[in-house]
Amino acid sequence: MTKPPLDPKKMREATKLVHGGTLRSQFAETSEALFLTQGFVYETAEAAEARFKGEDPGFIYSRFSNPTVSMFEERMCLLEGAEAARATASGMAAVTAALMGQVRAGDHVVAARALFGSCLYVVEDLLPRFGVTSTLVDGTDLAQWRAAIRPETKVLFLESPTNPTLEVYDIAAIAEIAHEKGATLVVDNVFASPILQKPLKLGADCVVYSATKHIDGQGRCLGGIILASKDFIDKHIHNFLRQTGPALSPFNAWIMLKSLETLHLRITQQMESAAKIAVLLALHPNVRRVIYPGRPDHPQAEIVRRQMAGGGTLVAFEVDGGKAGAFAFANALSIISISNNLGDAKSLITHPATTTHQRLAPEVQATLGITPGLMRLSVGLEDADDLIEDLMQALDAVKRQGLAAE
Ligand SMILES: Cc1ncc(COP(=O)(O)O)c(C=O)c1O
Repeated sequence: MTKPPLDPKKMREATKLVHGGTLRSQFAETSEALFLTQGFVYETAEAAEARFKGEDPGFIYSRFSNPTVSMFEERMCLLEGAEAARATASGMAAVTAALMGQVRAGDHVVAARALFGSCLYVVEDLLPRFGVTSTLVDGTDLAQWRAAIRPETKVLFLESPTNPTLEVYDIAAIAEIAHEKGATLVVDNVFASPILQKPLKLGADCVVYSATKHIDGQGRCLGGIILASKDFIDKHIHNFLRQTGPALSPFNAWIMLKSLETLHLRITQQMESAAKIAVLLALHPNVRRVIYPGRPDHPQAEIVRRQMAGGGTLVAFEVDGGKAGAFAFANALSIISISNNLGDAKSLITHPATTTHQRLAPEVQATLGITPGLMRLSVGLEDADDLIEDLMQALDAVKRQGLAAE
């Protein structure tokens, strides 16, 4: 008796994350196989010719296709509701390919000004070297997006929520603005994660991830992925990646695949703790402001309700005492580690003004709301009560050092 084949499209999300995209080998292994191979062999010269002509859909060379990497891509397509995907060696390789694959000299890109530093480098420094100009806008202001578009604008680019101040942009409205003018919208969905926000369903043309963050979620491997329609991937991405080579290693793809099995559980748990922590931080007398997309006082709370399935795993907040207060606070933490990473099982604290956003001029930091006392907390999988105790004792330490208001 043969079992009916699984139809992953009919599965619920958590099931897709466990079974979607699995290519079982002739050994019928339970866990996905790691195909740690550079290349593939052909039975005959005719078979090799057919493979290269695209008449036989098998694998050719791991710079552009590999069974383990394909399983990761397919599982991500099912999760995102995308027709096609290409995995990359890092999130920045995904962002760079998603932008550079679409433009040529003379084109123009519009991006939200609150971008991750390396993304800002690609838009503001790298693209202009190849004759592609750019305009940065306040991502919350739809009129600025509209006004920035020129006849030669090809791409609009944003991340939402943003790093580190967790601003949220109206993806559906910005996609509409892009499409009215014949441009595309690329969304970096790292902070929301694919569990909480589906930019393609909101009208974006392309979604990029640093899989290094929640997708691995356990601090091991770098990785990235680009998801879009098959037409978009064929036209803009496939050849760019195939010929330039920022491929994801099959080993890292295997780690990511195994991580996807627990993504739903991890995000749910980390988000529950983040929401609890945000409430307690907001009540603390030495915390000046708390930014958490799941709170009703978030400036874009109404957009969050429409486009996200929850507030996420990151909380931003400002401690009393400026930079000295922030440093005293971070140094007093014991469970939560000081790091610039996010989305990890381990809770991590970042002082954006002196690390991730250090290169921005003070006035640019001020415009973006990156104040000297601002901290970004990536909530992990520890018991929320242990994290809360750690945060509270660190806030007490700020007060003991005379840096907080009485
Ligand atoms: C919003 C955002 N996009 C892209 C990246 C780049 O990802 P990677 O470090 O995997 O290259 C990061 C990394 O911190 C990020 O926070």
